[in-house]
Amino acid sequence: MLDLLIKNATLPDGRTNMAVAVQDGRITAAVPGLDAPAHETLDAGGYLLSPHFVDPHFHMDATLSYGLPRVNESGTLLEGIALWGELKPLLTPEALIERALTYCDWAVAKGLLAIRSHVDTSDPSLLAVDALLEVKKQVAPYIDLQLVAFPQDGVLRIKGGVENLKRALDKGVDVVGGIPHFERTMAEGAASVKLLCEIAAERGLLVDMHCDESDDPLSRHIETLAFEAQRLSLQGRVNGSHCTSMHSMDNYYVSKLIPLIAESQVSVIANPLINITLQGRHDSYPKRRGMTRVPELMAAGVNVAFGHDCVMDPWYGMGSGDMLEVAHMGLHVAQMTSQKGIRACFDAVTTNAAKVMHLQGYGLEAGCDASFVLLQARDPVEAIRLRANRLKVWRKGTLLAETAEVVARLNLLERPEKVNFMRR
Ligand code: FE2
Repeated sequence: MLDLLIKNATLPDGRTNMAVAVQDGRITAAVPGLDAPAHETLDAGGYLLSPHFVDPHFHMDATLSYGLPRVNESGTLLEGIALWGELKPLLTPEALIERALTYCDWAVAKGLLAIRSHVDTSDPSLLAVDALLEVKKQVAPYIDLQLVAFPQDGVLRIKGGVENLKRALDKGVDVVGGIPHFERTMAEGAASVKLLCEIAAERGLLVDMHCDESDDPLSRHIETLAFEAQRLSLQGRVNGSHCTSMHSMDNYYVSKLIPLIAESQVSVIANPLINITLQGRHDSYPKRRGMTRVPELMAAGVNVAFGHDCVMDPWYGMGSGDMLEVAHMGLHVAQMTSQKGIRACFDAVTTNAAKVMHLQGYGLEAGCDASFVLLQARDPVEAIRLRANRLKVWRKGTLLAETAEVVARLNLLERPEKVNFMRR
């Protein structure tokens, strides 16, 4: 007897009338029209059953701190970093943990069950590291939280930066981070990339660096990152986050750079909500969008994912943990408006992001974890268009969250016959 049988589901790849069978937290079959005895049987009504959402780039130590101690007036990355510096001495572990746990509740409700969060290692007390390691432990039954040691103030720029980062890794932080464009000079930035990749290679860890988060076309740390990935045999284990300078780079240089990134199997994370908000702030008009070259990277075979990056923190006052909102902004900024493009944006917040995080058991095939979300949409395109209602969210076969079907909303948007009064 199965634990759960979901019938009549549509899958992201377009297969319809699919049945997904679950036993002991795992998918045992995903085939058309299966019928078998189960403790619980659910008719999905043709709605989309997707593997859960994955946010591969977030800052959980700063989340839900909007307005503490003040709001970012200029809206720039640099004022955000300065503001975070003002907030850090005021942080308490209790408040940080409480905000992070609140955000994790929001995430579950949105079907977001895996998050890679950077955690600032600049403060020698490592208060944020200890707090997020505690959060990781507490949310483990419902969220895969992966932590990146992130030297926000520059691993070489501040005294003790390398030691603090290594101590965070010793405590159990999973991934090596960096911020080369914030080091004092380009040369120091390149040196930080080399050093941090060597630390990761020595310890057998993944790398995820904030890389070239600026409008400066000459910020080329992604080139160094790709080179180091190759030199240290870290292919498939390194990610460049943001890479916004690539938006402004010379096309000829990019024609050399993208194949280098592809060859070294470095993945790239764009953060559409934040990139469109923070970049171009020094421009008058025209204002650059600042997001990295998503369709071109994808076309070259680079694994590209989208992250949320920030929710209500010193850098961004919006957000709710909704990765469909991230995908929605991503497709607009990248002008990926074809059916293929929109579906690629759905992949960027699901399968591509899972690949960046090296998540095990992710997907809808037999043998994968039964961790998925039933969306009130008939395909990924409609899911993004409507930022679709999450009807049910399961992790390893356990129902974690459910939301009532919103019938009026779909009817109004799909069949507007009830708005006759507007016609003249
Ligand atoms: Fe970030």
